[in-house]
Amino acid sequence: MQTALRLVWLALCVAGCVGWFETKRYMKFCNGTSYMTDEKICCSKRLFMRYDNDACCGGLPHDSDETGCCAGLQYKLDSYICCQGKVEPRRSRDSCCGALPYDSSEAECHDGEIYVRYHRNTRYIEYK
Ligand SMILES: *[C@@H]1O[C@H](CO)[C@@H](O)[C@H](O)[C@H]1NC(C)=O
Repeated sequence: MQTALRLVWLALCVAGCVGWFETKRYMKFCNGTSYMTDEKICCSKRLFMRYDNDACCGGLPHDSDETGCCAGLQYKLDSYICCQGKVEPRRSRDSCCGALPYDSSEAECHDGEIYVRYHRNTRYIEYK
């Protein structure tokens, strides 16, 4: 629909319209109410003021640069990690092995089990 709308504008446009194409400002509908996408965000059919939030999580807006969405719960990306819908403290852990977080700089995940790398050795020992 946006493409069709743009084509209509293109057909009507003179030079002054160029700016309109460059701003990512669109009108959308949220449960029947129109809004401008740069001003508001629609989550679960409800409108919210738009600040840095750019996505919805659990029916509420959030800023996906700062917070993640884990099974509908928002969490701080710098301190937590989401593994299979569970939020866990991040610490140095940057990856998930099934539902368990682990540190990929010191361990590996094989068939859902975490193995800590054995230094100067190709063998692995079990993580826990
Ligand atoms: C969506 O609109 C319908 C009809 O106006 C209304 O009954 C409903 O409560 C609205 N939903 C929300 C989440 O506001």
